[in-house]
Amino acid sequence: MKKLWAGRFREKTSKIVESFTESISFDKRLWKHDIEGSIAHAKMLGKKGIIKKEDSEKIIKGLEDIAKDIRTGRFRFREDLEDIHMNIEAALIKKIGDVGEKLHTARSRNDQVALDLRLYLREESKEILSLISRLQKTFLDIATKHIKSIIPGYTHLQRAQPVLLSHHLLAYIEMLMRDRGRLNDTLKRINVLPLGSCALAGTTLPIDRAYTAKLLGFASISSNSIDAVSDRDFAIEFLSAAAILIMHLSRLAEELILWSTEEFDFIEFPDAFTTGSSIMPQKKNPDVAELIRGKTGRVFGSLISLLTIMKGIPLSYNRDLQEDKLPIFDTVDIIKNCLSVLNEMLPHIKFNTKRMQETAGEVYSTSTDVAEYLVTKGVPFRKAHEITGKIVLYCINRKKKLEELTLKELKTFSKLFSKDIFYCFKAEESVTRKKSAGGTSPNEVIKQIRRLRNLIR
Ligand code: ARG
Repeated sequence: MKKLWAGRFREKTSKIVESFTESISFDKRLWKHDIEGSIAHAKMLGKKGIIKKEDSEKIIKGLEDIAKDIRTGRFRFREDLEDIHMNIEAALIKKIGDVGEKLHTARSRNDQVALDLRLYLREESKEILSLISRLQKTFLDIATKHIKSIIPGYTHLQRAQPVLLSHHLLAYIEMLMRDRGRLNDTLKRINVLPLGSCALAGTTLPIDRAYTAKLLGFASISSNSIDAVSDRDFAIEFLSAAAILIMHLSRLAEELILWSTEEFDFIEFPDAFTTGSSIMPQKKNPDVAELIRGKTGRVFGSLISLLTIMKGIPLSYNRDLQEDKLPIFDTVDIIKNCLSVLNEMLPHIKFNTKRMQETAGEVYSTSTDVAEYLVTKGVPFRKAHEITGKIVLYCINRKKKLEELTLKELKTFSKLFSKDIFYCFKAEESVTRKKSAGGTSPNEVIKQIRRLRNLIR
């Protein structure tokens, strides 16, 4: 097929160059946004009298028909037409004749592709935002269900202090809250219209960019045409936000994998979300969580890809920019898939709260409470820490639990111990008394759940 830019060429493009430079194999995903942008552009051209009203209407009708063809699988994407923009424009000309040749007035593929990408990322970001909210709700429901279950809280992957399971789950909601913040912030930078920047310099024709922006729901128009066709900051920001988001999902995945081991035995994955081994009949593997952790690598890679693509590009548009799409598309797919599968799987995970509770109070995890007890009796914290450390060592040497100590034994470490110290040894007590704001006491956690319920919609 004749290329739309063939005028100044004497030779045909070589086949290898055609397939080397094509992007239709992947940017056909932008068809809806490309058509949406073209319809708005045609409307603006008609309104400004740059093309005749009736031509504008014919173009719009033609584009709508092409959308229908694509939607119903009747459209043939051609590699020799390079990309989605050329494929649709050529199809339009074929459909409505010469009038179709007027669509590309006061426009270049450089501002067109920037527009398509912004429309695409705007839509996908909104979808991702709603998937994140759903995940937050899922966490909130599980937390509410297990509001008072106690688990060992960890630092250095060593049991540290008892905490509420609900409190632990709420930590993920906080991470996701920040992820939403980052995506919403990115949306502000996405939501700027680049169209009308044309190749790089703007146009001599009397276009109305504000009108196009209004039609497409953009909050503003770009202020510098050179920047607008070469800027991919919004995509890098999107990938950054996605990288941080999936880093959170990966940490969750890692934790679920650990918790599901025989060694921890804190949770059981539902059968429907695990897979077996081809050789070991007894196995039930946490593949979903492992793949979330694995896909995280790809998303990080995409961020680095785009940063690296961008770093050597002189102003303004260069064809390197075509390479932005694959990492973006791959990331969008991964993020949506990971969020969706988590949303499906999490409600079916069984929490072994009995085992969690039993292990929560073990290995001297309430020692800090003992030290704080001494603080309330006037002992400086450093001293209290030391005294408690000695008690723990004494217990380790005698294979005793803290609660197995007698008051007499305790008094050899400090005269200030009295009967009420025995409450401090218990995990439940330890948790209930962590009343500081943001702490793990049930009252605090309930307060947080209420706050989050109002925030998450
Ligand atoms: N397929 C191209 C891309 O994705 C569209 C813009 C091409 N512009 C050009 N001047 N060759 O970036």
